[in-house]
Amino acid sequence: FSTRPAGCGNTPFGVVVRHKTHRRRIILFQIWGSGLKYNVRVICQRQGPMKTQNGDLDESKNLPIYQHKATLQQAVKDNSFLVVTGETGSGKTTQLPQYLHQAGFWSNGKIGITQPRRVAAITVAQRVSQEMHCSLGREVGYQVRFDDCTTQDTVVKYMTDGCLLREILADPVLSQYSVVILDEAHERIVYQNKWWDKASKGRCVPLKVVVMSATLETDKLSVFLGGCPVFTIPGRTFPVTSKFSCAIGPKDTESSTAYSLLYIYILVVKVALDVHTSEMAGDILVFLTGQSEIEKACDMLYEKAESIDYRYDVQDHKVEGLLILPLYGSMPTDQQKQIFQPPPPGIRKCVVATNIAATSLTINGIKYIVDSGFVKQLNHNSRVGMDILEVVPISKSEALQRAGRAGRTSAGKCFRIYSPAFWEKCMPEYTVPEIQRTSLTAVILTLKCLGVHDVIRFPYLDRPEERFILEALKQLYQCDAIDRRGKVTRLGELMVEFPLPPGLTRALLQAASLGCEDLLLPVAAMLSVENIFIRPGHPEKQKEADKKHRQLGVQAGSCNDFTMLLSVFEKCKASDAPSAWCKDNYIHWRALKSAFSVETQLREILLRLQKRDFPMEKFDGNKSELFRRCLCTGYFTNVARRSVGKVFCTMDGHGSMVHIHPSSTLFDQEAQLDWVIFHDLLVTSRIYIRTVCPIRYDWVKDLLPKLHEVDVYELSSVAREEVTDEEVAKWVTKEAAKRQTEGSAEDVF
Ligand code: CDP
Ligand code: MG
Repeated sequence: FSTRPAGCGNTPFGVVVRHKTHRRRIILFQIWGSGLKYNVRVICQRQGPMKTQNGDLDESKNLPIYQHKATLQQAVKDNSFLVVTGETGSGKTTQLPQYLHQAGFWSNGKIGITQPRRVAAITVAQRVSQEMHCSLGREVGYQVRFDDCTTQDTVVKYMTDGCLLREILADPVLSQYSVVILDEAHERIVYQNKWWDKASKGRCVPLKVVVMSATLETDKLSVFLGGCPVFTIPGRTFPVTSKFSCAIGPKDTESSTAYSLLYIYILVVKVALDVHTSEMAGDILVFLTGQSEIEKACDMLYEKAESIDYRYDVQDHKVEGLLILPLYGSMPTDQQKQIFQPPPPGIRKCVVATNIAATSLTINGIKYIVDSGFVKQLNHNSRVGMDILEVVPISKSEALQRAGRAGRTSAGKCFRIYSPAFWEKCMPEYTVPEIQRTSLTAVILTLKCLGVHDVIRFPYLDRPEERFILEALKQLYQCDAIDRRGKVTRLGELMVEFPLPPGLTRALLQAASLGCEDLLLPVAAMLSVENIFIRPGHPEKQKEADKKHRQLGVQAGSCNDFTMLLSVFEKCKASDAPSAWCKDNYIHWRALKSAFSVETQLREILLRLQKRDFPMEKFDGNKSELFRRCLCTGYFTNVARRSVGKVFCTMDGHGSMVHIHPSSTLFDQEAQLDWVIFHDLLVTSRIYIRTVCPIRYDWVKDLLPKLHEVDVYELSSVAREEVTDEEVAKWVTKEAAKRQTEGSAEDVF
C-alpha cells in the first residue's frame, strides 16, 4: 500500500493498492478538498501491470533541439552573444544548459539560466537534475526569491531574473559564471550588449550570453544585442483546429469582474467535461485565471466527473477515468511534479492551469485545449495609481500560443469559450510586455544601482511609457531611494538588496535603524507569502473561522491588521504544536511555514547590511507608536482619511474613494477611525483597502508634502550629470524636459 503525503489544500493524488496475488489490483483514488473537509473518490479500478510513472527520460533525444546539439555547442563557443529561438516545447530550457555542460563550459564557471517565473525555475531544475542523474541542489540547482537550493557543487543553476540582477549588483562581472542564458527574454529584458561587454572587460574568460525566446521577435532581440547571430530550431507542429462558442461575447467584459469570473470557471468546467465524454483519448489542458478559480473549477470537475458512467457516457471506450490536476504558481513543489507524469493507462489527465502553461512549462500528451480567453495580469491602474491584479481578455497572439500547446505530438483541438465577435472586438493583437504595464520601481532602482542614470533614454527592448518611468522615479524619491537629482542614495543602495516592494522595504529599514526590526521583519515576511487566513466555504465553519480570527485580533492588543500579522506569527512560532495551532485557528500552516523561512532570509540580508555602515537613529516613545510610525515612513504614500460614513479618501493626488475590506480587523469600526495607512488595494465594483492600520495625522504631516512637492521632470532630466542646486533650481521647464528625452541614446553607460 503506497501513498503520497497529502499536505493541505487541494491535493489530488493517486493511491495504488497492490494485492499479494500475482494479478495486481490497482485502484486509483483522488483526494480533494480544502480546509477541514476532504473527499475521496475512486477514479479507476483495473487489473494488470501499471506502466512506469516516471516520464521516459530518454525522450529528450526526440526533442527537436537534439539534432542541433553539436551546432549549438559550437555556436556558443564561437559567439559572445547568441539568440536561440524555437517553438515552446522544443527543448530549449531543459536541454541547452545540459549541452553546454557536456561541452565543458562548467570548467570556467557556472551555467546560469534565468526564468521569468519561480515555478518554472523550480520544476525545470527538478527535471534537469533527473535527466542528469544527480540530486537536486548538487550539480543542478535553483535559486528563487526566498528559496536557495544550490550548493558548492552546483554548476547548472536555474534562477529567476531578480536573483541574477542581485548577483550582478554584488559582482558586476559575474565572475562565477561562464555562460548566462536569459530564457524567455521577451518577457522582461533590461540588460543590453554594451552592458555585458563592459561586464566582460574585468574577466579572464569572456562571458557568453545566450538569449532564448519562443516568440518571433528575434530580430528585435538580435538588434538589441548588437546584431548577434540568431539560431532557429526548426519546429515540428501539427494542425490544431479551433472552435469558438457563443458563451462569452463582447458584452461580458462590461459586467463586474467578480461576476464574470464566477461565470468563466463554470463554463470552462462544462466544456472540459464535454471534451472528456465526447472526444477520443488524449489529455486536456484548461487555461483559467488564478488559484481560487482553478480550485473551484477542480472541485466542480471532481463532483461532476463522479457521476460519469464510463460504459454509456463516454465515446471512447479506452477512456476509463479522469485525473484532475491544478497548476498555479504558489502550489507546493511536490504537487507540481505530478503534472509532468504521464497518467496511468486508460486515464485521461486534465490539467487546470494559469497562463504559466502557455510558454514557461510544457506538458506532454496534451491533445485538447479549453481556453477561457482571460488572464490575471498585473496592470498599472491609473484610476488608483497603483499596480493591481486584474482579469483581462488575452491577446490574439496569446490565444494562438495557448491553442498551439495541443499540436506538439499530433493534431489537436482547441475549444474556446468565447465567440468570434469577442475575438474581434475584445482581444488585442499582442500582449503588452509586463515592463510596459506595471510599476517600474524595482527595475529603475536596479538600473540606477547598475550605474545607468538616464533611465528615460535607456534603450529598453520594450520601451515603457514615459509616465510609468516618471511615476517610478517619483516613488523612489518619496521613499528616499534617490535624491532630487535622481542619484541613488545610501538608503537606495540598501533597499535594492531586499526582494520586497519599496514601501515595505523603507518601513523595514526605518525599523532597523531604530532598533526595532523584530517588529517589522515578521510583518514583511507575512506580507510576502500567500494569504494566511483560511475562510472555509461552509457557512457554519465560516462563522467559526471569523470568530477565531477576531479572537486572535483581540489578543493582539492594539487592533490593526499589521499587528495581527505579527501576533499570528509570534503565537504560532511560540506554540509547541504549530500545525495543530494553525488548524485550530483557521490559519494556513503551509503559508506560515514559508513566512518563517522568509523572515529568516530577510533577517540574514539585514544582518549582512548592518555590518556595513548602517544609519542609526534614536526614538523615545511606546512600542506600538514606534511600530506604526515605522510603517508610516514606508506607507505614507498609501494614506487615506475618512470622509463620510465608511468611505475613505486617499491622499496621493488621485483622491480615490475607498472602503475597508471586510477581511480587515477594522471592518465595521470605521466610525472610530480618522487617518489610516494600508498595504494594498483590491478593485472590484468598489475599491477596497486591505491590511489597514490607524495612524495619527501628526506622524505623516511632514511626509505628505512629499507626495505633491516633487516635480517628476526634475528628477528625470537632471539625472545624467552632476549639477549644483542653483542649476537644479533654474532647470528647464517641463516642455524643455520633454524635448530633452527625445534626444539621442548615446551616453547611457
Ligand atoms: O524551453 P522549451 O519550451 O523549448 O522546452 P522545454 O521546457 O525544455 O521542454 C522540453 C520537454 O521537457 C517537454 O517535452 C516537456 O514536457 C519536458 N519537461 C518535463 O517533462 N518536465 C519539466 N519539469 C519540464 C519539461
Ligand atoms: Mg522554455
